Amino acid sequence: MFDLRPETAEDWWEVEALYDLCFAPGREALSSYRLRDGVAPVAGLSLVARDPGGILAGAIRFWPVRVGRAEALLLGPVAVHPTHQGEGLGRLLIQDSLERARAKGWERVMLVGDAPYYGRFGFERLSGVEMPPPTNPERVLGLELQPGAWDHVTGKVTRHA
Ligand SMILES: CC(C)(COP(=O)(O)OP(=O)(O)OC[C@H]1O[C@@H](n2cnc3c(N)ncnc32)[C@H](O)[C@@H]1OP(=O)(O)O)[C@@H](O)C(=O)NCCC(=O)NCCS
Repeated sequence: MFDLRPETAEDWWEVEALYDLCFAPGREALSSYRLRDGVAPVAGLSLVARDPGGILAGAIRFWPVRVGRAEALLLGPVAVHPTHQGEGLGRLLIQDSLERARAKGWERVMLVGDAPYYGRFGFERLSGVEMPPPTNPERVLGLELQPGAWDHVTGKVTRHA
């Protein structure tokens, strides 16, 4: 029912509008956005989902970050238009993009989000990984794309220069 494909430059403002609709005002003041400033999202992993009429129904983006000296993917934002929420599109966007990330050789993914939702995909609390403040440490979650990929990876999350 939904067509998923990598986001292109032409999609950028439409995706921004979807995020503005789905998130509270001031989303860009969140500390996670400081990790995205001046860095391009990871090409080929950020996806848009369109309905059969071509209307944007959901989107997911990924940025590269560093955790200590290791590389990781920062998942998000992910959003589904309110008229399509609860239809499994969020799951589809997350699972599809994580499969692409694994196939491209990425080893680990992190995000700041709701554990009850992301736990469904295997995300668990990351202890020892420090997001820029203010971030609730309970919401800092990680997933291994390769076995053991988060073992011994700790430290501050910084922008990928
Ligand atoms: C979160 C979001 C992307 C999920 O997309 P979706 O297409 O509605 O999700 P799915 O259809 O794949 O899954 C729906 C299930 O997730 C649950 N769910 C959605 N958001 C949740 C949350 N924050 N915490 C716990 N469960 C959540 C729903 O209750 C539903 O549960 P069910 O399967 O038991 O009925 C979407 O609701 C959204 O865009 N929300 C606003 C933006 C947002 O919060 N983004 C995430 C930032 S952390």
